Amino acid sequence: MQNMSFKTEIERRRTFGIIAHPDAGKTTLTEKLLLFGGAIQEAGAVKSNKIKKGATSDFMEIERQRGISVATSVLAFEYEGTKVNILDTPGHKDFAEDTYRTLTAVDSVIVVVDVAKGVEEQTEKLVEVCRMRNIPMIVFINKMDREGKDAFDLLDEIEQKLGLNVVPMSFPIGMGYDFKGIYNLWEKNINLFSGNSRKNIEETIEISDLESPEIDKLIGEKAAHTLREEIELVEGIYPTFNRDEYLNGHQQPVFFGSALNNFGVRELLDCFIDIAPKPRAKQSEERLVQPDETDFSGFVFKIHANMDPNHRDRLAFIKIVSGTFERNKPYLHVRNKKKMKFSSPNAFFAEKKEIVDISYPGDIVGLHDTGNFKIGDTLTEGENINYKGIPSFSPEHFRYINNADPLKSKQLFKGIDQLMDEGVAQLFTLELNGRKVIGTVGALQYEVIQYRLEHEYGAKCTYENLNVYKACWVEPTDIKNEEYKEFLRVKHRYLAKDKEDQLVFLADSQFSLQMTQQKYPSIKFHFTSEYK
Ligand code: G4P
Repeated sequence: MQNMSFKTEIERRRTFGIIAHPDAGKTTLTEKLLLFGGAIQEAGAVKSNKIKKGATSDFMEIERQRGISVATSVLAFEYEGTKVNILDTPGHKDFAEDTYRTLTAVDSVIVVVDVAKGVEEQTEKLVEVCRMRNIPMIVFINKMDREGKDAFDLLDEIEQKLGLNVVPMSFPIGMGYDFKGIYNLWEKNINLFSGNSRKNIEETIEISDLESPEIDKLIGEKAAHTLREEIELVEGIYPTFNRDEYLNGHQQPVFFGSALNNFGVRELLDCFIDIAPKPRAKQSEERLVQPDETDFSGFVFKIHANMDPNHRDRLAFIKIVSGTFERNKPYLHVRNKKKMKFSSPNAFFAEKKEIVDISYPGDIVGLHDTGNFKIGDTLTEGENINYKGIPSFSPEHFRYINNADPLKSKQLFKGIDQLMDEGVAQLFTLELNGRKVIGTVGALQYEVIQYRLEHEYGAKCTYENLNVYKACWVEPTDIKNEEYKEFLRVKHRYLAKDKEDQLVFLADSQFSLQMTQQKYPSIKFHFTSEYK
């Protein structure tokens, strides 16, 4: 490995995320990919990071989940000379922000869709984020061993609801009870389904000609006839696969299979390592940075607090964008304008993390941190660049946070500060009276925050409801104009500062937001913090 050139190391990396609505089969698919990669020996090794139903009041469960989510944050393995890095994304909607942030660190994604349920709410939201960023996507339609929707209907649904341009790379032969296998349009072969999940590699039969009577023998005359008709239709309706179109986010290849039965997964993986993008260039505020530049640069996309309350350090996850990251070499923390060295950077493998000396673009390193990092921070070899692309979205829930133990206010503020740096929730400070408001994507976070403040910082808090519909980041055309001054005066009660000191308007209803927008047309109201 040591002789491998820097360029080769970059080219052989595939860093991606799997996104899905909970229960579609993300964990199962991840596990099967690891099995094929030889990274794990048996099924059941990857723990689901799903929040079990009804777990909201069970704090041990939350802690357990946090433990698992550290362990499965990055799963890396080698497959046929390719270094595959899977970044885990929580499926639970209350943790959607986490997923959005992780999506800034992937070079492509695989979207898992349940054949029976079709496109679900979380799939729509996450795909929308990927579409906005032109992230290359591959769709895996899972659970073909079950009765589900007709393949053509489902492809239609995916195109319409997700706004994608699909290209089937494989096509199912039957479904559910009658599921016989898949025809692989990419490799031109038939893969017969044995329904035996213990078998690692299923039988693959090369079929160069769809008219071959061999097919009739394998799957029966009727199924063979239907298959020929369907493939003709597929070839008539859908465009042929074009890698450039896929890479620029304009075309999405689709695979069918059953993760649980280990079926269609090898085809997916083989095609994935062939077509998926190697680490891509990334835009910083100053310039576009290419992965093969010699100088190191990277950014923090996730921070995880230590589970052990006696060791308050945290793990900051850095995606390497360019150059190599080396142990004990000083790097510039751009926001703090400070050089830092890291004596024990962690690299992640299937089930463990290990200290590494050198990491390459596309890799993720975990750095021990005592509170220096915030989500979105950039590290470089010395250049002053700032990576863009980790915006905050308007939270869905808002509550005042009050100190319940006056002797512990220092601990409370420190705790809030650090939890916000981790990206657990967003903090707003009211202009009127300095009261603090916590905004979250889901109600579950309030319990997590309360629990963690108490257990990790020894502080107690209570919440108070606050009627806010949306937080909008305020962008005036001219801070000196009369209209803006009037807005600041009239809406004083509804104004707050976010953690970056940006002005935010807390609209209490859709109606009042609309009225405000009409009354102050020169001011722009944004639902995300990144509008510049
Ligand atoms: P998630 O991470 O996307 O939330 O989904 P996960 O992999 O946990 O899968 C959700 C459920 O769907 C699991 O069943 C899993 O066994 C099942 N599943 C996954 N792939 C397939 C498939 O190809 N065919 C069929 N029939 N089922 C599949 P569960 O009963 O909820 O959990 P478990 O008790 O089996 O773990």
